[in-house]
Amino acid sequence: MPRDVKIAPSILASDFSKLGQEVRDVVEAGADWIHLDVMDGHFVPNITFGPDVIAKLRPHTDKIFDTHLMIAPCDPYLEAFAKAGSDIITVHAEAGPHLDRSLQAIRNLGKKAGVSLNPSTPESVIEYVLDRLDLILVMTVNPGFGGQKFIQSQVEKTRRIRQMIGDRPIDLQIDGGVTPETAPLVAAAGANVLVAGSAVFKGGTVESYAGNISAIRKAAEEA
Ligand code: DX5
Ligand code: ZN
Repeated sequence: MPRDVKIAPSILASDFSKLGQEVRDVVEAGADWIHLDVMDGHFVPNITFGPDVIAKLRPHTDKIFDTHLMIAPCDPYLEAFAKAGSDIITVHAEAGPHLDRSLQAIRNLGKKAGVSLNPSTPESVIEYVLDRLDLILVMTVNPGFGGQKFIQSQVEKTRRIRQMIGDRPIDLQIDGGVTPETAPLVAAAGANVLVAGSAVFKGGTVESYAGNISAIRKAAEEA
């Protein structure tokens, strides 16, 4: 039952030496949201960028800034990511012992609250916070790097989470190894927002980004 599928390119796979241009190019190519992967070298084995970079990108587009925090702890930094211009702030369920508190803090900052689950984390961890959520992110790779292989077992988890959501207005997002080949699997399982890094930014031109985005969108919508 494919619904309206949104494509959220991850700028992790873009050319960091010209981030503003890359954001404008990928928006011109048809991106619905901009996915911002924040890594701390502690929660995940890689380091990317922080709130100052996001604040500098903010004037380049009015598209939704979807900030994926792969940092622990996250609570001390939520306000900075809100002020930088994030529209959605997603924290990992594994990043700390007080998920409920983190989600409340995000909404109290006036932002949409998301939770992300690593591949090994069962969906039961979000059972009691569903009403505090605007977005659930199912990681289909182990977070930390772009260009990894899609983990098939997460399709069933996606299906179960779609059932848990019921009629709540919660977006169900997939992140990791999304391509025109894997997009239909998760779309059919109920995902409605697809993050893609390498599959969007390959080619390095606006024209290739446009072709890449529409190939993923088409594959998902035909699922
Ligand atoms: C991985 C990040 C992803 C990453 C996806 O930790 O959260 O957003 O950019 O990259 P691809 O689409 O290349 O798997
Ligand atoms: Zn991500």
